[in-house]
Amino acid sequence: MSKTDSGEKGIQHIAFIMDGNGRWAKARGLTRDAGHRAGVEAFRRVVSHCGDIGIPIVTVYAFSTENWKRPAREVSLLMNLLSNYLESCGDDMMAHGVRFRVIGDKTPFKRELRESIDKLERLTENNTRLLNVALNYGGRDELVHAFNRLAEKGITNIKEEDISRELYTAGIPDPDLIVRSSGELRLSNFLIWQGAYSELYFTDTLWPDMTSEDVDLAILEYKNRHRRYGGL
Ligand code: IPE
Ligand code: IPE
Ligand code: MG
Repeated sequence: MSKTDSGEKGIQHIAFIMDGNGRWAKARGLTRDAGHRAGVEAFRRVVSHCGDIGIPIVTVYAFSTENWKRPAREVSLLMNLLSNYLESCGDDMMAHGVRFRVIGDKTPFKRELRESIDKLERLTENNTRLLNVALNYGGRDELVHAFNRLAEKGITNIKEEDISRELYTAGIPDPDLIVRSSGELRLSNFLIWQGAYSELYFTDTLWPDMTSEDVDLAILEYKNRHRRYGGL
């Protein structure tokens, strides 16, 4: 797919629910850890392809507010993979003009992790393409935070714009397309406000198997959709 292809039908923002690492590993007789490691590779591949085809904003769901329910060992492996990624991706982001942002509540993370996130956000803040990584992200949690902030500010006659302005995604267009891997047909608390009119695409491909071709297929289907937004 060429650079102009994605731009024509106006994908400004594509989002991915990166699901299926565990099942990918199980099918190969590997540990869930191996699945998550392969998931990181798929993430790098997919984000880089989205850049190549000219999509300006990519958001990925990496860790939900509900994922803390997993065994401590798995949570800690995911945090380690995240730290390694944060420490290793700065040069590549600078080379490709990628601005890194975390969406989600960073407060429960260890200080070192929060510092690595802040460092990468600062390093890349003047780049133009945007990569949002949803970490300890939950759509309901995000809305609760937003409502509390509006209450603190004493805003009572609340408008939709007031809420949007308090979300982690303030100022970013809503996702045009949300892609979920691994055959699960749900949003799992991802971008529930922002995704009100997003096109949804579900593929049975398990996340570690996601390729550029899978992304192109999703975009091709998106282009054949008719977005009506309640109109005709
Ligand atoms: C997605 O893969 C990664 C995270 C949610 C962190 P899963 O770990 O959910 O994989 P499955 O759903 O068990 O296969
Ligand atoms: C959604 O996947 C969260 C992420 C991809 C980070 P889950 O595997 O946590 O979702 P459920 O539990 O199947 O809904
Ligand atoms: Mg899952």
